[in-house]
Amino acid sequence: MTIAGSPSEQSGSEVLKKTNQRAFRGSILHFFNDPQNKTETENSHLWEYIEDGCLVIENGLIHAVGHAADIMGQLPTTCPVIDHRGDLIVPGFVDPHIHFPQLDTIASPGTDLIDWLNRYAFPTEAAFQDKTHATAVAEFFIEELIRNGTTSALVFGTVHRTSIESFFAVAQRKKMRMVGGKVLMDRHCPRELQDTPESGYADSQALIHEWHGRDRLQYAITPRFAITSSDEQLALTGKLAQENPRLIIHTHLAENHEEINWVRQLFPRHRSYLDVYDQYGLVNQQSVFAHCIYLDDADLKRMQSSGATAIFCPTSNLFLGSGLFDIKKADEAQMPFGVATDVGGGTSFNLLRTLSEAYKVNKLQGQFLSPLRAFYLMTLGGARALHLDSNIGNFMPGKEADFVVLSRTATPLMERKLSQNRSKDGLPTLTEQLFTFVMLGDDRAIKQTYIMGEAAKVRSA
Ligand code: GUN
Ligand code: ZN
Repeated sequence: MTIAGSPSEQSGSEVLKKTNQRAFRGSILHFFNDPQNKTETENSHLWEYIEDGCLVIENGLIHAVGHAADIMGQLPTTCPVIDHRGDLIVPGFVDPHIHFPQLDTIASPGTDLIDWLNRYAFPTEAAFQDKTHATAVAEFFIEELIRNGTTSALVFGTVHRTSIESFFAVAQRKKMRMVGGKVLMDRHCPRELQDTPESGYADSQALIHEWHGRDRLQYAITPRFAITSSDEQLALTGKLAQENPRLIIHTHLAENHEEINWVRQLFPRHRSYLDVYDQYGLVNQQSVFAHCIYLDDADLKRMQSSGATAIFCPTSNLFLGSGLFDIKKADEAQMPFGVATDVGGGTSFNLLRTLSEAYKVNKLQGQFLSPLRAFYLMTLGGARALHLDSNIGNFMPGKEADFVVLSRTATPLMERKLSQNRSKDGLPTLTEQLFTFVMLGDDRAIKQTYIMGEAAKVRSA
C-alpha cells in the first residue's frame, strides 16, 4: 500500500475532518517506469497491478493506493466509496500530439501530407480567428477527449491567438492539465494563416505571460514545421525558447518524403531536417517532435544526446501514407518517444485504438509492442513526454487524480473474450486483459473519466 501521511500517523479527529476524501474500488494498474518488453511474470518495480484495489482521493489529489483489504478498514466512515469492482482503473490517458482546430479535418482523404494540408487542414484552420467558432470547436474537442479517456494533451492551435486562448479557457473551466500553443508560420501557407516573425514572437510572449502556469495550463512554443517558417521566424523562435527554457517546443519533423525534400531545398546548407531546428536552438530536452519517421543515425544520436522526444503517430502515419515509425530503432538509440493520435491527420481520438495501430505498425516490422508497454505509453509515457510526470501519469500519492475507468464488459465481444478463464482467480492474465483492451477497445471501453477526482464524462456516444 502507498499512502500519503498514513492515517495511522494521524489523530482520529484529523481523519474525520477529511471531508474531501473519496475512495474508488476496482482493479488498479499504474506504472513506475517503462516496462519495454518485460513480461508479466518478470513483474517488478516497473508497474503495480492490484486485482481488488482501492484508490483514495483527497482534494483532487491521490492520497493512497493499495489493496482494498488494507485500505477499506482505515477509511473514515464518512468517506464515500465508489464501487468500480469488475472494472479496471488506470491513470488518465495523455495524448502528446494533437491539433484541436483539425476537429473537422478528420477523415479527409488527401493524397499525402502536403496535399492534405493544402486541401483540408489550412482551409479549416482559417476560421479560428473567430472566437465564437474557436470556443465551440474547443468545447466539442475537449468533450471528445474526455469521452475517450484523455485527460491531458499537447495541443496545436492555429496561427491565431484566439485559437489557443479559446482552447485554454475551456480547458481551464474543465480543470484539465493541458499544454498548447499558437502556431508560428509566416510562409508557404495561405496569407490569412501567416503571421510575421515579429508578430509571432510578440503574440507568443503575450500568451506565455497570460496563460503559462495558470491553474493546470502550460504554454508550448509551436512552430508548425520548417517549411512554413522563414529563417527569421526560426531565429526568433529560438530566441523565444532561450528566453523561456522551461517551455515545451512542439513541432513536426521528418514525416514524409516530399516534405523532407522540400526542407532540403529550403535549407541546403543544413545536414538534415533535425539540423535545421538544431541550428536555431530548437533541439533540447524540451523539444517534442511529432513523427520522426525518417531520421538517420546521426539524427538519432542527436535526439538522444539532446534528450528531445519523438512522437509516434500511427493512425496519422498510416492514413496519410507517411511511413512506419521504428520503435526498435528508437530503443536502440535510446531516443525517448511517446505515442499520439495526431488528430486530424490521425483518425481516432482514442488512444486504445491508436495503440492498436501502433502494435500493427510494429508487427509489420517484425517487432512486438507488449500490451503492458502500450498502457505505459498511454499513461506515464505520455506524461513523461510532456515533462508532466511529477504531476500526473501514475497513482503516486500527491499527484493529481486524473484517471479512467475501463469496462471489461464494454461490448459483447470484449465481455466474451475477457470471460474466458485462464488463471486461477477467474480472469485471463493481466497481459491478455490488456491486449484485449488495446485490440478491441475504443470509446465504449471508457466507462468514466475522472479529472481531479471528479467524474467528467457526460456523453457516452
Ligand atoms: N506537418 C505540418 N503540419 C502538419 C499537420 O497539421 N499535420 C501533420 N500530420 N503533419 C504536419
Ligand atoms: Zn501533427
